[in-house]
Amino acid sequence: MNYQVVIPAAGQGKRMGAGKNKLLIPLDGLPVISHTLQVFLSDPNCSRIILAINPDEEKFFSSMVKDLQAEKRITFAAGGTERQYSIHNALRTADPEGIVLVHDGARPFIRREVIDRLVVQAEKMGAAITAVPVKDTIKKAVNMEVSETIERSSLWSVQTPQAFRISLLMEAYETAESEGFLGTDDASLVERIGAPVSIVEGHYDNIKLTTPEDLYFAEAILKNKG
Ligand code: CTP
Ligand code: MG
Repeated sequence: MNYQVVIPAAGQGKRMGAGKNKLLIPLDGLPVISHTLQVFLSDPNCSRIILAINPDEEKFFSSMVKDLQAEKRITFAAGGTERQYSIHNALRTADPEGIVLVHDGARPFIRREVIDRLVVQAEKMGAAITAVPVKDTIKKAVNMEVSETIERSSLWSVQTPQAFRISLLMEAYETAESEGFLGTDDASLVERIGAPVSIVEGHYDNIKLTTPEDLYFAEAILKNKG
């Protein structure tokens, strides 16, 4: 089942503290973003990749796409000041039919097998997200005093990719924009227009490289993949 994918890559990586976009940090000799792109470039069902980038970094990304020999499948869109704006800009340049995935450039360890299951579910339901069961006990607190322990069996830790019928996702993005709503993931925009979102269970190693210690975990995951 064919799909296109939007990959936001226009962040600043502030929490990583590398003084540059964390997607440019090398992992096993290749920038983080190249690892992410290779998963989709090697998937015959992925018809198109739209990369939202900071225009100041266009030189880097253009030469990387050339190195990957992927000029035909990867197009660029201008990133915005928030992840949501970057994705919205990219969606405006997407084909208006079929399934679209949104996947963080900072999650290089996504597996094809999860993408396959996610796309099937999005075709069926309109919207599907990758998630893993929460391992920790989660408590709610007010001023450092616990107010509630939330039943863990109902909690999921949400990742990307998230997959949608593109018409549904566009409607959700347009509504969020006109109402000035900023969400922390794409599905939250779809949820607020009342559409159902399914969960597809993924893997704990699909980490998002966010803070410096995530680079140690990344090395370990790569080593384990061998
Ligand atoms: N992203 C983007 N445009 C933005 C902000 C983020 O395209 N304005 C992208 C990032 O490049 C990343 C993904 O969205 O691939 C997830 O965001 P996050 O992990 O928060 O990355 P950064 O925003 O770069 O990091 P930080 O929040 O620590 O600055
Ligand atoms: Mg961010």
